[in-house]
Amino acid sequence: MPEEDSGNGAAPERLTWPEELELPALLAAENVRSLHETIHSEWGSLLRSACQTAAGRALWKQVIRDPLAEVLAGESYLRSLHDKIRSDQLNRAREVSGVIIAVRTLWFDSRLENAVGAFAGGEAQVVLLGAGMDTRAYRLGCLSRSSVFEVDFPELLETKEALLREALGSAEEQGAAVMARSLIRVAADIGESEWLEKLQRSGFAPEKNTVWLLEGILYYLSHQAAVQLLQSIADNCSSTRSVLLADFMNESCVSLSHSTFKFHCDWPDHLLPTLGFSQVKLSQIGDPDAHFGLMHDPENLFNRLRNLPRSMQTHPDDGTPCRRLYLVEASGSAQEGTR
Ligand SMILES: C[S@@+](CC[C@H](N)C(=O)[O-])C[C@H]1O[C@@H](n2cnc3c(N)ncnc32)[C@H](O)[C@@H]1O
Repeated sequence: MPEEDSGNGAAPERLTWPEELELPALLAAENVRSLHETIHSEWGSLLRSACQTAAGRALWKQVIRDPLAEVLAGESYLRSLHDKIRSDQLNRAREVSGVIIAVRTLWFDSRLENAVGAFAGGEAQVVLLGAGMDTRAYRLGCLSRSSVFEVDFPELLETKEALLREALGSAEEQGAAVMARSLIRVAADIGESEWLEKLQRSGFAPEKNTVWLLEGILYYLSHQAAVQLLQSIADNCSSTRSVLLADFMNESCVSLSHSTFKFHCDWPDHLLPTLGFSQVKLSQIGDPDAHFGLMHDPENLFNRLRNLPRSMQTHPDDGTPCRRLYLVEASGSAQEGTR
């Protein structure tokens, strides 16, 4: 299949965003406003990154259907991303802001659907580590026979639940409901060793087929915590069929903000087998399985990068750092895969 036919989204030049951002009435409701005020006044940047990501999904609604994302993101993140997108469009930028979130979301959605579908009857446990404002349990029909576990810090999960209560009770979102067979929220710090015990106390069964979904999370952890987390997953997957889906930043990418990002890995396909994973498949944004029709311009930053050897740290044409985000799928078992 030619590369440009392999995606399922609209070409970016055909995507347009309205001049004025239209906000749902729900964001003006008193309880919702008050929850977002607390997010802004009390949360640090780590927790607030969850709202930023939700804003990306909300504003790329032409390719991602996530109707709850607006209320979870909140007005200020929606406005700030909308302004950036408008400015990118006016300046005919090769990459429109938020496209990474859009491609990443679509990649995780499609890999999750494949992984769950490969288990008999689509029955699996799906564990979202650093779940943030993810609403896959509400928006993916493929999870109808799966138990979803969302793991994040307690204050984030409490606020998310409160925002969702407002949204699901409102006229605008009537009809939205959990599509997964079950949804359990687990308050835990995944940088600490007790997270797995907490997950098990919430009903997670290590012997059952599991998809581990680590989207936009590993690089917020220290190197030690990230490797320990992956090791714990591998150790708990060895006797069962399981799939790891994760994204990794390389060193140049992490150096964009050393105060925010920590763990980096230029070679996840080398690291994961040393921890007990097998069948590692690595994609970069723009690859045939990771552009979804959103990366047509060959001079697009991501297309220029992925055509260079991964060992290159700076671009030979202009000396700019090669900032890469890897999308990685692996089997949790050392011997056996899921396909
Ligand atoms: C960028 S957001 C991504 C959220 C979600 N996976 C998504 O793609 O929309 C990062 C999330 O990781 C969570 N997180 C970061 N460090 C964590 C830790 N040590 N334990 C639990 N959650 C953590 C944050 O609270 C935040 O919700």
